[in-house]
Amino acid sequence: MNKNFNPISRPKNSLLFSILFALSMISITIKSIAQEKPYQEPYRPQFHFSPKTNWTNDPNGLVYVKGVYHLFYQYNPFANVWGHMTWGHAISKDLIHWKHLPIAIPEEKDTMIFSGTCVFDQNNSSGLGSKQKPPMVAIYTGHVKDSNQSQHLAYSLDEGKTWTKYNKNPILDLGKKDFRDPKVFWFAPKKYWVMCVNLPQEHQVQFYSSTNLLKWNYLSDFGPKGDTSGVWECPDLVQIPVLNSTSKKWILQVSLSEKMQYFIGEFNGVKFIVDSNQKTILRPNAGPDYYAGISYGQLPATQLPTSIAWANNWSYAGNIPTSPWKGAMTLPRNLFAQNTNGVWHLVQKPIATLNMLRKKIAFQKLATETKDETISLESIGINSDVYECNFELSSASTEKVGISVLNDKFRGVEIGYEPSLKKVYINRTKTNSFSDRSFSDIRYFTAPVNLTVDKIKFKVFVDNSIVEVFVNDGESVFTVQAFPVHSDKNIKILNTTTPGSVKNLQVYPLQSIW
Ligand code: FRU
Repeated sequence: MNKNFNPISRPKNSLLFSILFALSMISITIKSIAQEKPYQEPYRPQFHFSPKTNWTNDPNGLVYVKGVYHLFYQYNPFANVWGHMTWGHAISKDLIHWKHLPIAIPEEKDTMIFSGTCVFDQNNSSGLGSKQKPPMVAIYTGHVKDSNQSQHLAYSLDEGKTWTKYNKNPILDLGKKDFRDPKVFWFAPKKYWVMCVNLPQEHQVQFYSSTNLLKWNYLSDFGPKGDTSGVWECPDLVQIPVLNSTSKKWILQVSLSEKMQYFIGEFNGVKFIVDSNQKTILRPNAGPDYYAGISYGQLPATQLPTSIAWANNWSYAGNIPTSPWKGAMTLPRNLFAQNTNGVWHLVQKPIATLNMLRKKIAFQKLATETKDETISLESIGINSDVYECNFELSSASTEKVGISVLNDKFRGVEIGYEPSLKKVYINRTKTNSFSDRSFSDIRYFTAPVNLTVDKIKFKVFVDNSIVEVFVNDGESVFTVQAFPVHSDKNIKILNTTTPGSVKNLQVYPLQSIW
């Protein structure tokens, strides 16, 4: 939770609440009739998930059950602002195309449904289903404004279509005002479920165990450590493969206010111990719009760990100029650990099946020719800012090199290499059509880059108002929103004195998932 929360206070009695609910539903229906073409509004992402209408923040309860990927998300069913938090629900067969389902877990009386996890309780350890009909179990934070946050449970016996709140909620209550965002997974070696949950103000993740998902025993805690400048939220603990190896490491990610950080180490079922060589703060994303990232639970053994985050930033999320929705999810990415000079780092690659969205390649060039070339998208047969663009820069470059996308007449989001800093960077300074002060203040982002190889490789996904950049096969990643005024729809080569600074440039138009 953040200082910028804009909670709508709850109506006091249930009749009034029902009337307001009915009015909101009518207004939503009227709006959607008036809105002829959903998913074609200005700035609407075409291959990132967003709800049809209204506000969303964190992804919740990411779980794979019987061939279906579930995506629950923090959702306000009534308005395009934060409030009335409820779990929205969508499903997918490929993590790319999504089908919207009715709301899963609605707010109840004075208790909002905050972030959490969903698991498939295959052996009916909870006893809430049966051997024949094992339940899906959602464990989330019940939030009572200004007084209590505790962990609650709801279950579904029809594959997530309808949900029943457990009649003995809460299942874990420390009597605290801030205690939230449980992440639950099965820890096979100890034959129990593990919950990681945050004490936000203490900058701590606590670990609990349970054999039945209902009764939880304290195991240990982690933190304060690393960045403690904001409240800790949305912990995620998952085992990930070491790149090009058969060994594995554990990664603990936490969100704090507007950023995320991670720790790589070992988890023995009781305690998480960060690697002793991690001395600095490590971030999964060098951009400003990456928050509450969590990983999928119960993926088949053949699938790589995969996570999704909220592509937004609490500093200005309430004011972004999008309607009738606000908020979208990042692309799903696979997670790997890599050791460089004794220090573990996270490597993230966009899921490979995203290639299925590629249309025929629209542009390809071994090297740009002029020093400030502009590639008009129209001239290469692309009619929207919805594409993937791959290119390489030389790490031997002595001047700033790169490209600019989502351009206004004189503006754009610059993506490139800055030799004076020896870093890759993104600069959205000049797409400031959105006047929110904190948005324009948060604009220049850098990440270290491996300079021992000559080529710096960029994979850039441009999606109307979201740009995601994967550098050197996922060594660093930037997620950034931008809202250009009149998109000029082109890719500009940054004005350098050296022609041909951008190499192996490829542009693929991408299909919309909607
Ligand atoms: C993170 C967060 C969580 C909380 C949820 C409420 O963005 O503040 O800590 O559960 O959002 O919407």
